[in-house]
Amino acid sequence: MKTIIEPFRVKSVEPFRMTTRTEREAILRKAHFNPFLIHGKDVMIDLLTDSGTSAMSAEQWAGIMRGDECYAGSESYFRLQRVVAELTGFDHVLPTHQGRASERILFELIGGKGKVVPNNSHFDTTRANVEHSGATAVDLPIREASCPSERHPFKGNMDIDALEATIARVGVQSIPAVMVTITNNTCGGQPVSLENLRAVRRICDTHGLPLILDACRFAENAWFIRTREAGYEHVPVRSIVREMFDLADGATISSKKDGLVNIGGLLLLRSPELFRKASNLLILTEGYVTYGGLAGRDLEAMAQGFTEIVEEDYLSYRIRSVEYLGEKLLKAGVQIIDPPGGHAIYIDAAHLAPHIPRDQFPGQSVVCGLYRIGGIRSCEIGSVMAGPGRPPAMELVRLAIPRRVYTQSHMDYVAEACEELFERRSELRGMRITEAPDVLRHFTAKFEEID
Ligand SMILES: Cc1ncc(COP(=O)(O)O)c(C=O)c1O
Repeated sequence: MKTIIEPFRVKSVEPFRMTTRTEREAILRKAHFNPFLIHGKDVMIDLLTDSGTSAMSAEQWAGIMRGDECYAGSESYFRLQRVVAELTGFDHVLPTHQGRASERILFELIGGKGKVVPNNSHFDTTRANVEHSGATAVDLPIREASCPSERHPFKGNMDIDALEATIARVGVQSIPAVMVTITNNTCGGQPVSLENLRAVRRICDTHGLPLILDACRFAENAWFIRTREAGYEHVPVRSIVREMFDLADGATISSKKDGLVNIGGLLLLRSPELFRKASNLLILTEGYVTYGGLAGRDLEAMAQGFTEIVEEDYLSYRIRSVEYLGEKLLKAGVQIIDPPGGHAIYIDAAHLAPHIPRDQFPGQSVVCGLYRIGGIRSCEIGSVMAGPGRPPAMELVRLAIPRRVYTQSHMDYVAEACEELFERRSELRGMRITEAPDVLRHFTAKFEEID
């Protein structure tokens, strides 16, 4: 059958308000042309992020009721620990309130002035935590990653030669760990092959370096390996997941993605010594080691989420539905990062609005256009987000697809809005920033349209 069906029935619905174009024009102006400043109730299809926006299953909600709220030794923690250990092979499991808390603890322990952390591509919070520790974050994506139209099955891979060159240049003593982000969010939610992960591991072994995964979307990455990497067609997703984690010495995870929960994270460590130190830091700022800043009910929902995420019917539907939207956009002439990644479609805004110079933020203009046409909220990932003096490789607009939330007809609606935007692209206008903070300006900056 060609039709993708959602492998679930809907038990509870969350209505949204249908707005008119006139209403949206006023809302956009009131929000200073920044969708982060629009109230959720004024958004029809919210594709701002796939993080913490999943719909939980009936079993997860049942887990919410079962949550054991003991301060210490909660049964919900032990269930989570068992599920994660079975899935990843890591016995040392620390819950955190979200991914960046795991990053903060890790880099407080292994980062510091003069250190250099190579990664295929750092996500912005990972980079911020590396830099906050005084270390330098270095991105080493493969060449194909910066060309939206160049197809590559594993566009998220790390450039192996560049990793060798970086180690030779900065010296092995400066590198506390090598990181690999699966999937590579910054480069378009693109997967990393097991072949590439093994090559990184070999280099780490040669130099005695630990390998840490930023594994927020490990299950989506595993599905791409199964469907694209030779020899894995018949390997169960759980085995692929295990093979990926077996190559690592640690992992930071935002459970708000492939944990299928609205809040939560994990820090996984192989070294008992590092785990002991991380536990002490966790207690300092997050909470006791068996809850890490979360409620027992959150731990239950997370344990169940990590069980459901590796179901192959779910993953097949998930990846196919993102690809379906990507195919529709390409057919309409909208250039996207091709092939589509696992959790989002990234529109090449520089291609869609070539008449808008980069310093007039073509991505922000496309984001506003999509809101005007369809009440769809998306996110600029280009010069606005990168900040002054850090020109990004691409001007992108991300349509992140929340897990298990929208149906195929919602995707058809999004595609129709993108088609209309493409047809009327000459009407898009450049933007000017009227007010912005020094860091992470995309969240609160105010804009106006240039006449
Ligand atoms: C690859 C990657 N790493 C880390 C994070 C940070 O996770 P959190 O938002 O839970 O702090 C994210 C969140 O989007 C991410 O995509």
